[in-house]
Amino acid sequence: MEIFKQIAPFKAFLKGAKLAGKTVGLVPTMGALHKGHISLVEASKTQNSVTVATIFVNPTQFNNPEDLKKYPKTLDKDVALLEKVGCDAVFCPETEEMYDQPSRIKFDFGHLDKVMEGQFRPGHFSGVALVVSKLFNIVEPHHAYFGQKDWQQFAVIRTLVEELKFGLELHYVPTMREADGLAMSSRNLRLDAQQRAHATIFYKALSYAREALRSGQDVADVRKRVQSMVDQEPGMRLEYFEATDSKNLTVLDNVKNAGQVILCIAGYAGEIRLIDNLFL
Ligand code: PAF
Repeated sequence: MEIFKQIAPFKAFLKGAKLAGKTVGLVPTMGALHKGHISLVEASKTQNSVTVATIFVNPTQFNNPEDLKKYPKTLDKDVALLEKVGCDAVFCPETEEMYDQPSRIKFDFGHLDKVMEGQFRPGHFSGVALVVSKLFNIVEPHHAYFGQKDWQQFAVIRTLVEELKFGLELHYVPTMREADGLAMSSRNLRLDAQQRAHATIFYKALSYAREALRSGQDVADVRKRVQSMVDQEPGMRLEYFEATDSKNLTVLDNVKNAGQVILCIAGYAGEIRLIDNLFL
């Protein structure tokens, strides 16, 4: 596997692959890789002759400086995992390589970046859109892969691709879970044993909500029950639970006759923020 830290040699590698008629799949990550990331690489490998991953903890998408400082970094392990799964190249630049000048560009996705994550993490999606645009411009991939766990991010990136005419096909890959249902996330590495044991409540609450809504209960009643389920779990705090239209993220009071609905949850295990979702 080739390892690049600079844009120019990485682009030269990609140019060579494309001149040789190869299709390129891109898996953007912030490292601290787990099986969820590996499933993105595997999905890319089934559809492309060359798969490249990127590892870059993007400062502009962190609205909380403490969260950025504490974001787990396991580069050597990540590189070994990517090599093992047969990734062809990894791009792991320093911050100065990606941000050689302070960025003046801000993105506004309207409603898509005002609800849920957008409400509680102002500026987050602008930072995501900025770095993903840079990566799309550097790699010019045929396909790009993202995890379902960050569904709102996927909806934002889909809009970015459509509006800015990035000529690539986007894919999302279903969330990988631990045996007790906890969604795999790089942030799980920061949970202590007690937090890890209780953090499964977010998945349990989502699973309860899915069954309750399928059997005709009201969103408002379900939200109250979700709140009390999380409140009863030591050290856990609910930030939001929403039922939304999966395409435009309209927040729904009523899921009857709605299109495809996705249930989204966010909360804290101690000071560690976790998110998850399930399609209804
Ligand atoms: O999902 C992530 O890991 C990040 O938000 C992404 C897409 C790599 C952009 O930094």
